Amino acid sequence: MFAVHLMAFYFTKLKEDQIKKVDRFLYHMRLSDETLLDIMARFQAEMQKGLGKDTNPTASVKMLPTFVRAIPDGSENGEFLSLDLGGSKFRVLKVQVSEEGKRNVQMESQFYPTPNEIIRGNGTELFEYVADCLADFMRTKELMQKKLPLGLTFSFPCKQTKLEEGVLLSWTKKFKARGVQGTDVVSSLTNAMRKHKDLDVDILALVNDTVGTMMTCAYDDPYCEVGVIIGTGTNACYMEDMSNIELVEGDEGRMCINTEWGAFGDDGALEDIRTEFDRELDLGSLNPGKQLFEKMISGLYLGELVRLILLKMAKAGLLFGGEKSSALHIKGKIETRHVAAMEKYKEGLANTREILTDLGLEASEADCVAVQHVCTVVSFRSANLCAAALAAILTRLRENKKLVRLRTTVGMDGTLYKIHPQYPKRLHKVVRKLVPNCDVRFLLSESGSTKGAAMVTAVASRVQAQRKQIDKVLALFRLTREQLVGVRDKMRVELEYGLKRDTHPLATVKMLPTYVCGMPDGTEKGKFLALDLGGTNFRVLLVKIRSGRRSVRMYNKIFAIPLEIMQGTGEELFDHIVQCIADFLDYMGLKGAQLPLGFTFSFPCRQASIDKGTLIEWTKGFKATDCEGEDVVDMLREAIKRRNEFDLDIVAVVNDTVGTMMTCGYEDRNCEVGLIAGTGSNMCYMEEMRNIELVEGDEGKMCINTEWGGFGDNGCLDDIRTQYDKEVDEGSLNPGKQRYEKMTSGMYLGEIVRQILIDLTKQGLLFRGQISERLRTRGIFETKFLSQIESDRLALLQVRRILQQLGLDSTCEDSIVVKEVCGAVSRRAAELYGAGLAAIVEKRREDQGFEHLKITVGVDGTLYKLHPHFSRILQETVKELAPRCDVTFMLSEDGSGKGAALITAVAKRLQQARREK
Ligand code: BG6
Ligand code: BG6
Ligand code: GLC
Ligand code: GLC
Repeated sequence: MFAVHLMAFYFTKLKEDQIKKVDRFLYHMRLSDETLLDIMARFQAEMQKGLGKDTNPTASVKMLPTFVRAIPDGSENGEFLSLDLGGSKFRVLKVQVSEEGKRNVQMESQFYPTPNEIIRGNGTELFEYVADCLADFMRTKELMQKKLPLGLTFSFPCKQTKLEEGVLLSWTKKFKARGVQGTDVVSSLTNAMRKHKDLDVDILALVNDTVGTMMTCAYDDPYCEVGVIIGTGTNACYMEDMSNIELVEGDEGRMCINTEWGAFGDDGALEDIRTEFDRELDLGSLNPGKQLFEKMISGLYLGELVRLILLKMAKAGLLFGGEKSSALHIKGKIETRHVAAMEKYKEGLANTREILTDLGLEASEADCVAVQHVCTVVSFRSANLCAAALAAILTRLRENKKLVRLRTTVGMDGTLYKIHPQYPKRLHKVVRKLVPNCDVRFLLSESGSTKGAAMVTAVASRVQAQRKQIDKVLALFRLTREQLVGVRDKMRVELEYGLKRDTHPLATVKMLPTYVCGMPDGTEKGKFLALDLGGTNFRVLLVKIRSGRRSVRMYNKIFAIPLEIMQGTGEELFDHIVQCIADFLDYMGLKGAQLPLGFTFSFPCRQASIDKGTLIEWTKGFKATDCEGEDVVDMLREAIKRRNEFDLDIVAVVNDTVGTMMTCGYEDRNCEVGLIAGTGSNMCYMEEMRNIELVEGDEGKMCINTEWGGFGDNGCLDDIRTQYDKEVDEGSLNPGKQRYEKMTSGMYLGEIVRQILIDLTKQGLLFRGQISERLRTRGIFETKFLSQIESDRLALLQVRRILQQLGLDSTCEDSIVVKEVCGAVSRRAAELYGAGLAAIVEKRREDQGFEHLKITVGVDGTLYKLHPHFSRILQETVKELAPRCDVTFMLSEDGSGKGAALITAVAKRLQQARREK
């Protein structure tokens, strides 16, 4: 009995002595709570630095965006392939995620070796090897005939700009294949897979193992928002608020950040806690100076640290009686599994003796106790350091959520964490001590990271399928060159039809003679009134033209025309117009002055002279009754009479295209075309009298208002009209009419966009599948909004804000799609305009028998003026489709009122000349 006590006393004493000795020797490896709190604070600062746009380039903790935006929600399903490369084992897997709505995942996997000559050889060969393993797996599992999406778990730091891409920043751990750093791993593997003709695999996602782990655990526990690996290497990821991630556009929701915390300290931030052993280990590693935090923590290095310490202690005579074995000198002789075995609770001491004996060391009882304690100090420090960094992440999460207490789950994986007997509980305990206001659940990922990688792939494959659907819709708006040439040639045919007496009555492009026969010559002078009705704004103007100097002064006022008047009775409309004129005269102090008036009336009118215009039919947003078939000049005169307050001399009625051509023609005599790309779409040009069969005489030229908006009304554009164009047409005031206008002009482009968005939403591809009241509202996308949305200078966030202003609550992804839709619709419009214009200028060139034609086009309209790309695309298309015409585009700065006044001036002069005769 006494002997037993004596033995126990002796052993306790021996243990105490050895522990003290080791503790003294490894003083620097034992970190106080204070130091841990300090390290935690340093890591918090590092995270901030890595997230900042300006500070990221010099940050050692890279905080890499992963483009994984949400944890699994249970809706994932399908069959996927998975590769898991970079941990201690390389695996190929097939993952089946349940279809029946219940969370159920089945996996089949196969391990493959990763010999050093492969992972440290040539990069191309590494990827070929991986592809070979995949092919082998698929053959064995009889998957060759299937086309499966693949998720790649790649456990190295990669810079991603999307999910299916990853540029390797640097190899870590045991890997060092040549020619891979700085290149995209996904494309390298895709290329390698091409060598296998029978392999049809699409890599949809690249994920870090931490991300895979987090997702695996989150599949079972929705609170999981952190993933930690303590294995060959060490690292963590977590869900960060988008608004804090400056490297990625958008501020909605969260995105998983791969911290790459292994590189913490690479800038010297941990020099005060690194020991001589850490430095020695680093120097002997594959990547000296790199991954300094990882080298104090992870499985690849722990055993080596222990070996270096034992060697030093032996050298100092503190162990093994000062004897060292040759094995103790060999790098890598002590591995993490040895450390784990030595620290086992009961068998630990016996294991230690066995391991030391295997190393050729003669260890006394005291040596074994000391060695065991060395292991404890080293692995305890590892757990402490991990705990400090993890505590920093948890604090960040809690602060992001503005919570006093955070309840969360951390997904864990890695051999060190899994096989070391004490590690998990030490880590958990320290974390809880460092962040007492977090309730943390540590969840071990039983099935590795692949299950999570499959979840990410499932989401990616759903997104890809959706993308395909969106592309299918957008493709309807992409016109080939052949199609555009077709449009140009058909337009040409319609122009000829409209000019010929026989075909004119049936022509859809009406080719209306305007009785404007020449350009202003600079001798015009006088004061004129002008009206400008039919565009976005209704204006009344006073235009003063001074002869000789080609100078014009204008005063104008914009008046509103309420919808109920636009679509009321004709009398109401013209009474309103006269009311506005009266207000203007009052405002200008001109009451009683009997001025000549030019009336810009932007609708199709059949004219028998310059001052007569019978409205053929309303277009755009007007639908006042009892006007069609009536002379609008008469209607205006009658309204003036009804008011009986003043008299006006209405000299000319002009279309806005004609007014625009004149406005520009005043500056540039080459201007023989007027183009409007605004609320409506139309064009006029100077035609040879001999070609105009409807008007007597063969001499000189006359301006023809083409009214090309009606192009296609005979069905000749049906091959390029989409279901959306048809819907817009059906919902318009004039169904079946103005089909070309409805594909090209400002009033309808927004409507086409709206119809597409409704359809995409119905298909569940936008706005979370919810069609809001706003989206059902006609006309919400005005030209100015389209123009804003498509502006290149706008960040996504601003696009979202515009959509929000329109009452459309969109995510960033939605905003991208909306912008693309707007782009497709407006590009098609600009190209169609270009094709139409090419037909005219080519006709003019041929009619005049020129090899080359130089011509100026006067242009106006909000679409042309405000849209960021419309004018460029229009011009490029004309160049492409009418290569022998040199077309100058001249923007009309002053609107068509000025042109109308000039026409009035000319008409007045002729009128007087006639009277004098
Ligand atoms: C595995 C994961 O379970 O753990 C891998 O599937 C990961 O993706 C690995 O890399 C990390 O641990 P170790 O110890 O294998 O490096
Ligand atoms: C204006 C002209 O500048 O542009 C109007 O003065 C014309 O006559 C208008 O109708 C066309 O553009 P929008 O976009 O206003 O229809
Ligand atoms: C290394 C890698 C990192 C990985 C970790 C765990 O630190 O750089 O990407 O997550 O090891 O495997
Ligand atoms: C409509 C009108 C046309 C006008 C054009 C531009 O197409 O019918 O006359 O020129 O809009 O405003």
